Amino acid sequence: MPEVVLSAQNLVKHYPIRKGVLKRTVGQVKAVDGVTFDLHKGETLGIVGESGCGKSTLGRLLMRLEDPTSGSVAFQGEDWSGASGREMRRLRRNIQIVFQDPYTSLNPRMTVGDIVGEPFEIHPDVVPKGGRRKRVQELLDLVGLNPEHINRYPHQFSGGQRQRIGIARGIALNPSVLICDEPVSALDVSVQAQVVNLMEKLQDELGLAYVFIAHDLSVVRHISDRVGVMYLGRMAELGEEDEVYSRPTHPYTQALLSAVPVPDPTLRGKREQIVLVGDVPSPANPPSGCRFHTRCWKAQDRCTTEEPQLVLRPDGHGEHLSACHFAEARAVVETVDVSDVQPDLRFSTTDVADIPGVDDGPDGVVEERSDVLHDDADRAPQDITRLVDEQPDDHRTP
Ligand SMILES: Nc1ncnc2c1ncn2[C@@H]1O[C@H](COP(=O)(O)OP(=O)(O)O)[C@@H](O)[C@H]1O
Ligand code: SF4
Ligand SMILES: [Mg+2]
Repeated sequence: MPEVVLSAQNLVKHYPIRKGVLKRTVGQVKAVDGVTFDLHKGETLGIVGESGCGKSTLGRLLMRLEDPTSGSVAFQGEDWSGASGREMRRLRRNIQIVFQDPYTSLNPRMTVGDIVGEPFEIHPDVVPKGGRRKRVQELLDLVGLNPEHINRYPHQFSGGQRQRIGIARGIALNPSVLICDEPVSALDVSVQAQVVNLMEKLQDELGLAYVFIAHDLSVVRHISDRVGVMYLGRMAELGEEDEVYSRPTHPYTQALLSAVPVPDPTLRGKREQIVLVGDVPSPANPPSGCRFHTRCWKAQDRCTTEEPQLVLRPDGHGEHLSACHFAEARAVVETVDVSDVQPDLRFSTTDVADIPGVDDGPDGVVEERSDVLHDDADRAPQDITRLVDEQPDDHRTP
C-alpha cells in the first residue's frame, strides 16, 4: 500500500443557522458530520452522494479553505490544525482544487497567462519571476491547450478548454493532491470524456492523488481506485471501486446504483430498480440512529436508536467498510467493470487534444452554445450575446 498523503480524522463542519434581527443562532446545518479516511499517493478516491450531502464542504475542509468545527486533516502525517500562516501556505501548496463551473471559477478580466500563473505570485519561490511565462506555456501545453493562447481571456475558450485552464492552474505548484469538485459535471458528455482522459494522463505523469467529487456514478467508477458514498454528512460505505460497485453492502449505495442508467440495451428493464421513498432529511435535523433509516426498506428498531459505525463488514467475497447494522452484499449493476473489461464507450474516444494540430474543435463551439442556452439564465444579457457571437478560435496554429 503506497504512503498516505492526506488523512481526514473525524472531520466535522457545522454551519450556524441564524434568525431574527439579532441573528441569534437557532440551529446548526450538519454539512459534514464525522468523516474519516486516508488518501494514498497517486490514487483516486471518488466521493459520491446526492446533492447537499456535504461533498463540496468536505472538499473545502480538506484544502483548509474553511476551518473544521472539529476533527483534523493531516498532510503526509503533518496535522494542519495548529499550523501558522507560513506553515499553512507551505502545506497548501501541496493540495490544490479544481472547481465545477469553468464559467464562474475563472476571472473574466484576467488573461489565461495571469490565471494560470497567479499561484506563482502567492508562492514566488516555486518559479523565479523571469521563468514564469515559459512555465505557464509549458503548463498550457501539458493540458492540451495552445501555449500561444496565453494572452487570451476565458470567454474566448469553450467550456472544456476552460476546465483545462482550471486544471493547469491547479497543477501549477506541483501539488501532491488535487481536490476535484464535480470537475466535469457542467460539461457535455463528449467533452467530459476528454477532460477525464486528460486527468488520468496527468495523474500518470505527475503522480497526483485525486479526491474526485461527483454525483455521476459512471464517471466516478471510471476514474476511481476507491470510492466513498456519502449520505447526510457521513460516509455510508467506502471501499475499492470494485467492492462498492459489484458488492455494495449498504442499502443506500444499492439504491443509488440501481438508478444508474444501463448502457447495455439488452439489460435495460431487466434490472431491479430500488426506488427510495421520501426526501432527503434536512442536515439541520438528521434522523437519530442510522441517518438513512427514514428511507431504508431494511430498517428495524435498532436502526432508529443505534448509529451504525463505518467498519469492515463481509461483502460475500472479502470485506470492506460499511455503516449498516445489516450490511449484506447485493449485486445491483449487472454490467462488468467498465474500467477494465468492457470500456465505457464515453471514455474510449481519442483525446483530440493529444493529436497535434487539433484542439477541442467543433465540440467546443457546440458545447458553448448549448451551455449558454440552457444553464446561463441568470447571466447578464450582454454576456450571452458576447458568448454566442464570439465563437472560440479552437484551432491550434500549425
Ligand atoms: N457556507 C454555508 N453556510 C451554510 N450552510 C452551508 C454552507 N455551505 C454548505 N451548506 C449546507 O451544507 C449542506 C452540504 O452542502 P454541500 O457541501 O454543498 O453539499 P454537496 O456538495 O454534496 O451538494 C447543504 O445543506 C448546504 O446547504
Ligand atoms: S442500519 Fe438499518 S436503517 Fe441504516 S442502512 Fe442499515 S438497515 Fe438501513
Ligand atoms: Mg457540491
